[in-house]
Amino acid sequence: MHKSNEVLKAIQGRRAVMQNSFTQEEVSKEDIQTILEAANAAPTHKRTQPWRFVIFRKGGLERLGSELARIYKNSTPAEKYSEMAEQNMAKKATMSNVAIAIVVNYTGDVPEWEELAATSCAVENLWLAAHSLGIGGYWSTPGLIQHLGDFLKLEDSQKCIGLFYLGHHNSEPRTPARSPLEDKIRWEE
Ligand SMILES: Cc1cc2nc3c(=O)[nH]c(=O)nc-3n(C[C@H](O)[C@H](O)[C@H](O)COP(=O)(O)O)c2cc1C
Repeated sequence: MHKSNEVLKAIQGRRAVMQNSFTQEEVSKEDIQTILEAANAAPTHKRTQPWRFVIFRKGGLERLGSELARIYKNSTPAEKYSEMAEQNMAKKATMSNVAIAIVVNYTGDVPEWEELAATSCAVENLWLAAHSLGIGGYWSTPGLIQHLGDFLKLEDSQKCIGLFYLGHHNSEPRTPARSPLEDKIRWEE
């Protein structure tokens, strides 16, 4: 029997929760702040703390949705374009209660992959903190995020690596689909 505690339960219970499970209940600014403080507690080499976040709520979500739809329309070849996909792109934002643009700030003080790794640690912290507060969400990485730089007012040394959509939700707990740990480890004793 494995040991268990609140942290381990949160890690095992965290799931990707999508917009179709989000409810209308508002995510409070206080909870968003708690979630972001958890992200800000992530480990980081040379304390570069490369994670940056842009938080969209209310009218901000409408603007983000319109921008995603606009980028989709402009960057999708005519033969692949569909009006439905354009609308769905906007809906990802407008059906969420909060969207957080995840940005890496490359300092040049450590290799770029370390900044990316540290920011990913921050995202997992964010995800676990949200889950612990009963808030669901997921990290969304459509190709068009590479075109969000101007909209997000990013500097040349910054890159958006995703949008984290959040909302209260009515999804049931699910067991994670994972191949066995045994296939991924080797003991040397
Ligand atoms: C770097 C990264 C990028 C992801 N991008 C997407 C995405 O673009 N769309 C999506 O639906 N889920 C995305 N996810 C969420 C995964 O689909 C989800 O975590 C995975 O299916 C495992 O499910 P679980 O998180 O519930 O255990 C991403 C997750 C990570 C870590």
